[in-house]
Amino acid sequence: MKVVFCFFLCFGGNFKWILLVDSEDTPTFGSKNIPRLLTKDVITGGFDYPVYQNHTILFYHEESGEMYVGGTDFVLKLDSEGYQITKEVHLEATRDEQCQEDVCHNVITVIERFEDILFVCGTNGHSPHCWKLSPYILEHSEGTGISPFMYTQNSLSLRVEGDLYAAAPLDADGSALQFRRKAGKRANVWMYDSWVSEPTFVTASWVKRKDDPDEEKIYIFFREKNSDHSPEADPWISRVARVCKIDEGGSKRFFQNVWTSFLKARLVCGYPEESLYFNRLQDVYVQHAEDWRDTRVYALFTSSWNSTAVCIYSIKAIEDIFNNSTFKGYDKAIPHPRPGTCVKNSRSLPLVTVSVVRDHPEMSDWVHSVHYKTPFYVSNNNYTKILVDRVQAVDQNMYNILLLATDYGKVHKILEAGSEPFIISETHIPSQSTIQSMKLDSKKKKLVVSFAEKISVVDLQSCQEYNKSCADCVLARDPYCSWTASGCTPTVPDGIQNIIDGQTRVCPTTVSDHTQVNRSRRDAAPPVNVDLLTLPAVPMGVPFYLSCPIDSYHAVYTWEHRDQSSPCLQMHTNCLFLIPAVTPESYGSYECVSKERDYVNVVKRYHLTQQINQQTRTDGGKASAVAAEIVCIVIGLSFALLSAQ
Ligand SMILES: *[C@@H]1O[C@H](CO)[C@@H](O)[C@H](O)[C@H]1NC(C)=O
Ligand SMILES: *[C@@H]1O[C@H](CO)[C@@H](O)[C@H](O)[C@H]1NC(C)=O
Ligand SMILES: *[C@@H]1O[C@H](CO)[C@@H](O)[C@H](O)[C@H]1NC(C)=O
Ligand SMILES: *[C@@H]1O[C@H](CO)[C@@H](O)[C@H](O)[C@H]1NC(C)=O
Ligand SMILES: *[C@@H]1O[C@H](CO)[C@@H](O)[C@H](O)[C@H]1NC(C)=O
Ligand SMILES: *[C@@H]1O[C@H](CO)[C@@H](O)[C@H](O)[C@H]1NC(C)=O
Ligand SMILES: *[C@@H]1O[C@H](CO)[C@@H](O)[C@H](O)[C@H]1NC(C)=O
Repeated sequence: MKVVFCFFLCFGGNFKWILLVDSEDTPTFGSKNIPRLLTKDVITGGFDYPVYQNHTILFYHEESGEMYVGGTDFVLKLDSEGYQITKEVHLEATRDEQCQEDVCHNVITVIERFEDILFVCGTNGHSPHCWKLSPYILEHSEGTGISPFMYTQNSLSLRVEGDLYAAAPLDADGSALQFRRKAGKRANVWMYDSWVSEPTFVTASWVKRKDDPDEEKIYIFFREKNSDHSPEADPWISRVARVCKIDEGGSKRFFQNVWTSFLKARLVCGYPEESLYFNRLQDVYVQHAEDWRDTRVYALFTSSWNSTAVCIYSIKAIEDIFNNSTFKGYDKAIPHPRPGTCVKNSRSLPLVTVSVVRDHPEMSDWVHSVHYKTPFYVSNNNYTKILVDRVQAVDQNMYNILLLATDYGKVHKILEAGSEPFIISETHIPSQSTIQSMKLDSKKKKLVVSFAEKISVVDLQSCQEYNKSCADCVLARDPYCSWTASGCTPTVPDGIQNIIDGQTRVCPTTVSDHTQVNRSRRDAAPPVNVDLLTLPAVPMGVPFYLSCPIDSYHAVYTWEHRDQSSPCLQMHTNCLFLIPAVTPESYGSYECVSKERDYVNVVKRYHLTQQINQQTRTDGGKASAVAAEIVCIVIGLSFALLSAQ
């Protein structure tokens, strides 16, 4: 719903309409679960495509820091500084017989890199195909089971050592969609059809174990049809599954080329005590760690009631479930070796072990998040993508920053502050389309976002947004930024910052900050470092308002006038004080005061004086104009109050 606010602004007898539109995109201040501020000027690069893209993917090669883009009939390599196109390879559909105009395109769906060779696959006019580029085409091969037939079909790919794992349908109608090892040194292995039901694969991740590579697993995150068809059950259920890296499938006689180590478990996100769950896995980011046990999974879910949630899991807890749980529907003694165990020669596994995997691959126990009783973060935003960066702060600790994007280009930067989310900021990337892909360049602290019409690059170190004062910089709790002699800048070791609690006591006490030291006393005057603005004189009886910019949606703003403190009325990105009709008591000084944590600040100071000479304003039309203003303010106020609820 768009609300239009209308106001008359009266400055020395000149009446103007003020229209404040677009209030739906502004957070309502005062609540905790909203962005602290809206940032602008954070788009630092990118480019427009010559034609609208129906589907694009981004691929970031960690080792080299190189970013690639796959679109319709092309692969681009971006330069690592400005993210401009440095190389373009055209990959048009190779199939030309009976190629109908609208299906001829080769939409790139897979980009992986094996050493210096880029491995690219695409829909190739409904006939999936792959190419090895180095940087020009070395060879090409059939790509069924790696790329989908149409870009709208679900798929994913993963490189593990020299092997390629992929999930893609085997048929043009999207059927036989499952997770397989498709190419490389090790044998091709696939799933048993009954293990999943109408799956949507979200992410696959290889968790390395330096001390025990034979125990390494590949984790697969997906959602599937719920086998519980009762009317109150959600039709979808979210899953984590895993297979051993060294699994080569079963014996020739039994389960040849089928995973012998596939196990799956329910991924729970919600309020277990109330049996209220977010069941639709939307996106996953796996944060790897030196020690595999510390690897964490950040999972974004949606629900049947259109609310979204982030839950965080530890790989250690996931492993414990696969190691200890009973097998759902299986009540006999668990055979040895335990079904799902990684063994050097999976073809020699006893039939009894493999049979349990075949018939009962689901764990009875559920995987709960590290916060168990509640999700880490719940929101009404329709988030579709999640990424997590690790940032070292001045206090030497590493902090996790969640980057959550909504389908229409809003990006929220969220600090993982213990078990609480702290929403540092919201950035709106103007676009005509939904976000198709998003990748993090953690080395350069940039977020690359792909839309149908363009690539946009967001600077995560946009510290100029909180450059007003040390307090401004510290209150932001942004580990990317710290206060220095040159203002709020990307974090340096001796900068001033307080990520733990955002209290501004870490800031030096300057002359203008002096009174702030005793701010705990309610009557202590806040620091005054803004000029007093004298407004043009205003006659009695007219409506009038004062405005103050909102710098932080987490602060509380009040208007101080004649020893009276009034709450302020939020209007878009401003905070208003409304005077329905000016009376003698209305004249004098006004201060807009913001309070946030331990920081009290005067944002604006005004002086309102009486207009004595009114001879030009005694015409007959005036009374009705004033009446109209008041009606308008009343309407505006009621809209404002409605939108504040
Ligand atoms: C996008 O899809 C439309 C409809 O199928 C098609 O006409 C158009 O050519 C496609 N655009 C590209 C860049 O392939
Ligand atoms: C959720 O959103 C969808 C799509 O916008 C809408 O059709 C549906 O009615 C919404 N459901 C609820 C419970 O709000
Ligand atoms: C799972 O059990 C096996 C042996 O049964 C053990 O080697 C492995 O360390 C266990 N994993 C975890 C995560 O405890
Ligand atoms: C699960 O098994 C591992 C060893 O495989 C053990 O260390 C752990 O304590 C067990 N967890 C539970 C909850 O039983
Ligand atoms: C949320 O975004 C997804 C993906 O763009 C879309 O399919 C879904 O309808 C959206 N839901 C709502 C409630 O807007
Ligand atoms: C930030 O403020 C400092 C003064 O405190 C100024 O020197 C610097 O140019 C400002 N930086 C930006 C990016 O505005
Ligand atoms: C704060 O106020 C108390 C008394 O009200 C005073 O003793 C103290 O010195 C003040 N602190 C500072 C740092 O000015």
